[in-house]
Amino acid sequence: MRTDTPLTIYRKDYTPPGFWVETVEMGFDLDPEATHVATRMTLKRNPASQNKSLLLYGEALRLVQLRMNGKALTKRAYTLGPGTLEINNPPDHVTLEIETVTHPNLNTSLMGLYVSDGNFFTQCEAEGFRKITYFPDRPDVMAKYKVMLRADKEKYPVLLSNGNLIEEGDLGDGRHYAVWEDPFKKPSYLFALVAGKLVCQEEKYTLHSGREVLLQVWVEEGNLDKTQHAMDSLKRSIRWDEERFGLELDLDRFMIVAVGDFNMGAMENKGLNIFNTKYVLANPRIATDTDYANIESVVGHEYFHNWTGNRVTCRDWFQLSLKEGLTVFRDQEFSADMIGTDSARAVKRIEDVRVLRQAQFPEDAGPMAHPVRPDSYVEINNFYTVTVYEKGAEVVRMYQTLFGRDGFRKGMDLYFQRHDGCAVECDDFRRAMADANGRDLSQFELWYCQSGTPHLKVDTHYDEVAKTYAITLTQSCPATPGQAQKQPYHIPVAVGLLDGSGRDLPLHLGGVEIDGPAPTTMVLELTQQRQSFEFRNVPVHPVPSILRGFSAPVVLEIDYSDAELAFLMAHDSDPFNRWEAGQRLAMRRLLALADAVQKDHALSDSELQETALGKAYHKILSDRMLDPAFCELALTLPSETVVAEQVDVVDPHAIHAVRQFMRRSLAAAMRVEWEVAYQANRTPGSYSPDAAAAGKRALKNLALSYLMELDEPQMHLLAQGQYDQANNMTDRIAALSALVNSSAAGRDEALARFYAEFEQEALVIDKWFALQAMARTTDVAKVRDLMAHTAFTLKNPNRARSLIFSFCNGNPAQFHAVDGSGYEFWADQVIALNAINPQVAARLARSLDRWRKYAPALQEKMQAALKRVAATKSLSKDVLEVVTKSLA
Ligand code: ARG
Ligand code: ZN
Repeated sequence: MRTDTPLTIYRKDYTPPGFWVETVEMGFDLDPEATHVATRMTLKRNPASQNKSLLLYGEALRLVQLRMNGKALTKRAYTLGPGTLEINNPPDHVTLEIETVTHPNLNTSLMGLYVSDGNFFTQCEAEGFRKITYFPDRPDVMAKYKVMLRADKEKYPVLLSNGNLIEEGDLGDGRHYAVWEDPFKKPSYLFALVAGKLVCQEEKYTLHSGREVLLQVWVEEGNLDKTQHAMDSLKRSIRWDEERFGLELDLDRFMIVAVGDFNMGAMENKGLNIFNTKYVLANPRIATDTDYANIESVVGHEYFHNWTGNRVTCRDWFQLSLKEGLTVFRDQEFSADMIGTDSARAVKRIEDVRVLRQAQFPEDAGPMAHPVRPDSYVEINNFYTVTVYEKGAEVVRMYQTLFGRDGFRKGMDLYFQRHDGCAVECDDFRRAMADANGRDLSQFELWYCQSGTPHLKVDTHYDEVAKTYAITLTQSCPATPGQAQKQPYHIPVAVGLLDGSGRDLPLHLGGVEIDGPAPTTMVLELTQQRQSFEFRNVPVHPVPSILRGFSAPVVLEIDYSDAELAFLMAHDSDPFNRWEAGQRLAMRRLLALADAVQKDHALSDSELQETALGKAYHKILSDRMLDPAFCELALTLPSETVVAEQVDVVDPHAIHAVRQFMRRSLAAAMRVEWEVAYQANRTPGSYSPDAAAAGKRALKNLALSYLMELDEPQMHLLAQGQYDQANNMTDRIAALSALVNSSAAGRDEALARFYAEFEQEALVIDKWFALQAMARTTDVAKVRDLMAHTAFTLKNPNRARSLIFSFCNGNPAQFHAVDGSGYEFWADQVIALNAINPQVAARLARSLDRWRKYAPALQEKMQAALKRVAATKSLSKDVLEVVTKSLA
């Protein structure tokens, strides 16, 4: 908790550490009430540093002993500040012995050492190690660790830490010990320990080189039937990194441990990854297709960090995207490669772009906007954002778009050749890409330093006589906090041209000679504010397909007619742009309807079938050759959040009303086709989470959700039947959600039955809360009721997210109740969470950060709620930073 005014940390103020740590030995006497930690470390002066003193960080610690080079230090020899311990005038070589005490059972922040369901876990990224011992807790200080764990043998039979187990034994008196040694140097944020009653699924696995490694997935006893998918995902990750990047696992043993109380998704601690149970546990009974896919991608993500994050780490936390953007890109590519087919790769790409637009574009347009490589922060935990992760991944993807897979691989190889074992900067990665490909990427740095989403305007001109087609691209970027003016970016723009029958035209770009057949997609490199590109030998007036595959994270402004959009949706060889054309058509209609609602016009869509949108949707749904997963994405309307981004003043009620109206219209207009799609995409037989089967279920369940918009008894029976017969959670939860959002008589009973059946499965109970939080009829009063349910607790982040976050972020029409009761509720929960877990509280605090975009009456009430939070006593710096920036 804050005791003084929080300090802003600036990237420009970076200075190298005064001392390097060479070795660390730690002894833990694990006890939930009071754990004693004895640390012995050797340090040596860094001749390159101006910092003369030895600065250690420590938080919420009781210092029991402090010795330097064998002698106890007197009070005058060091200064204990808030959060720091500074040793005055140390010699060049130092051995420090520090004994501290922490209270794991009181640690609800879930940073440092804490207890979850009776077991011990740690989370040290970004600055949690300082809650375990005093230490130069910064990522550029890398050391070798040897750790001894001692604990009661019966309560804590399993004792794990990073690296290799080198010794274990009995201590008598009912206690035992284990010694772990990590052969690799690592920053303190990668330290981990786990102790408790756990069991594992294990397997020996042979690497490409022939070396055998031990893989383990550790869970609580009752969960051993839910580890197979994580284990399979781990093996696939290992194989993929060998094949795609030539990167081998460098350890003899690799462990994944699941924990029920966890702030984020998972953590890449060296050799001992710790995961939120949500991203480990799966079987058909409890996990949906989305859960299966997420587990594969998070297991991949953490495993890939072993090279991009652990072997090469960050010099300071401003460089966070160096490892996160790159590793998200790697996990996206991994997931895409696992599903294989081009069409499935495109589906994955669409899903990733959807996340970017849903969450990152709003962040980039709001008060918390920051560059991929931020310039300052108050609390680093607030910067584990969609900008650092997902936009960072888009920035990495652009290198691959510019240089191709082979050029990208060359850049990666050079990056590891230069920086293995080092703590480096985003610039080092960019330099490796530039040098390996012989290109100047200085302008490309702007993607790391400028915040805001660039806009790209497209103008075209066809010269019928000369047979030339000119594409003029104009870029701009809106002002963001602290950045009024922007410089032009280096933007790769993938384009294609379609002829009248929808075929790709061969491309001949003026001034560019290409050996072999002319390509049908070309990457134009926009570097100026405005630039024209002229194609020659264009026989007919083409329809342009711009930004294929979403080749850059920008907003594309292009004036297509409805007919052109329908044409692209039907013919574009680029599946991303086919999807995109449909989204544009739907968005156009939604915005027109929203405008009508605000002018108090009655909504009518009797002629929907006759519109370009109606025809295009009909065509997609009736096309039996299309990949069902693609159809599902193409027939899903833009979300309310994405629609809200398109308007100047957001009226969440109008947006909700028109989206619902359109869903009902589409349901009625294509009723027969939905029914056919429902039947055609059933997946009888035993469940498999593979992409093809998951795609069918997705389309079938979309069909069900549209049919349920008709709210007819016959459809209620369909949903009820699916619920009763489902042999997997995907179908079961889809049916339950459809029922809960209908007027079906059986909906309350279905909810009760679901609860009774899954009471013992925490992750399923999370779904039960989330589904209700997002139900159309759930208002603030109902959410407060649900909070009083015996299964609810604010202390478990998954549970808090399932109910409170789902309501505040996932049910806009109810959350933005005109009386402001949603905002009151939000403030109450931010304040309550602040006292328990600042990181989770600060995430929730973000829910109101776009308050200035709303209609004045709502704005006023949101501002009042924000002010109430800001005025709360003992606010964490996490929450304070978010609300202060929101109100600024
Ligand atoms: N490095 C982790 C990952 O992306 C995230 C850890 C974030 N933890 C935190 N307390 N901010 O896989
Ligand atoms: Zn990560």
